[in-house]
Amino acid sequence: MTTTIGVISSGRGENLRYILQAERSGRLPGRVAVVLADQADAGALRIAGEYATPAHFIDPAGLSREEYDKKLIALLEAEGVELVVLTGYMRILSPYFVRHYRDRVLNIHPALLPSFRGKDAFSQALDYGVRWTGTTVHIVDEDVDHGPIVYQRPVRVLESDTHDSLKARIQRAEYKAYPRAIKMFIEGKPIVQGRTLVWRTGEKN
Ligand code: GAR
Repeated sequence: MTTTIGVISSGRGENLRYILQAERSGRLPGRVAVVLADQADAGALRIAGEYATPAHFIDPAGLSREEYDKKLIALLEAEGVELVVLTGYMRILSPYFVRHYRDRVLNIHPALLPSFRGKDAFSQALDYGVRWTGTTVHIVDEDVDHGPIVYQRPVRVLESDTHDSLKARIQRAEYKAYPRAIKMFIEGKPIVQGRTLVWRTGEKN
């Protein structure tokens, strides 16, 4: 059984590219049915086009957060979406959206949560002086960069690192991590117990 996936993005869409590559090469037990973006020039829309995947810009102008999210839900439901995947989506989802898709929305964040939530996790890691950072795929709850953790991949911080070199290495790790985490999540069907996931197929990561 293939899971129907909807992707929501604000940005470049590189994670989407790797998810679509995994799908097309049969490494994902899911199919991206639709891509939605809140920015007309989001790279994700172009990348979706390259893979002949339906994609829509949804203009947030003049809409409350909940009104906007109801529009997203209508489009996702029209495609029968069962799992929502955020890739660099910079709007905060309304509690309405989170309730509607409870435990069925994944996000990727460029740090080992709970460290360095929010914006520019790369500068936060360098400023703090950590020796390891990384990337986290987690379930989205009502709080930002906060829900139960699905998968983490560590990345070493080098003495020579600049913001851009660290960012490039973390993002390379993300391109491997996100398709793998989505596959694990679909196949493992974890049960959420508080902050912990109980995997039906044993320990993951
Ligand atoms: C990714 O690095 C992702 O971790 C980050 O945005 C980038 C999107 O890149 N997300 C966050 O910081 C969310 N808190 P992409 O558009 O090329 O996939």
